[in-house]
Amino acid sequence: MVKSKNIVVFASGTGSNFTAIHKCIDDGKINGRIVLLVSNNPRSKSIDFARSNRIKTSIINKDLISDLAQYEDFLFKELESVNADLIVLAGYLKMIPINIISEYKNKILNIHPSLLPKFGGKGFYGMRVHEAVFKSKEVFTGATVHFVDEIYDNGPIILQKKVKISPDDSPETIAKKVLDIEHRLLPYVVQKFCLDKIVFKNKKPIITGE
Ligand code: GRF
Repeated sequence: MVKSKNIVVFASGTGSNFTAIHKCIDDGKINGRIVLLVSNNPRSKSIDFARSNRIKTSIINKDLISDLAQYEDFLFKELESVNADLIVLAGYLKMIPINIISEYKNKILNIHPSLLPKFGGKGFYGMRVHEAVFKSKEVFTGATVHFVDEIYDNGPIILQKKVKISPDDSPETIAKKVLDIEHRLLPYVVQKFCLDKIVFKNKKPIITGE
């Protein structure tokens, strides 16, 4: 019997990926529960959603984030207080301190709205990604779930899903298509993580039984 996982979600924006994971848990598809929602944005809808679902919330203010030692210390305490097994960055726009990344190595997932390594790295977030994809005349775009390492959007890729770009797509319609994929891709990877089905082979993560 695989231990049920304590999941911590970090979100800065709308939080639709957070709600997608929550729905899968509600549907009994994930061997875990969300024990904490961390946000740096007091106006993030993810906070209201967490509160109405009785999930503990932790809001980090700007001053705290600007003091790296304090920010790190705060996060360590919050994560330890809920015995975090898995951290999911679901549209979290602030960096994660390096010591947290090493302590939770291969336990932090990030979702990125492109087919990494394309359109990733510092500055590629939100609509900027989709605008760049649009201008590039790529035929496909998609979403990527990867483990987080110390470099933005660089950690080992676990799974990607593609979507075709049609000639009449705009950055906005591309964004919508990609977000739609994300809502299936991220809960799927979380589900596999919570069953201990993501393992490393030749230094690359693979999902066993795929
Ligand atoms: C998603 O596109 C995700 O890939 C990116 O930020 C966006 C978050 O959307 N990292 P939401 O807040 O989950 O709706």
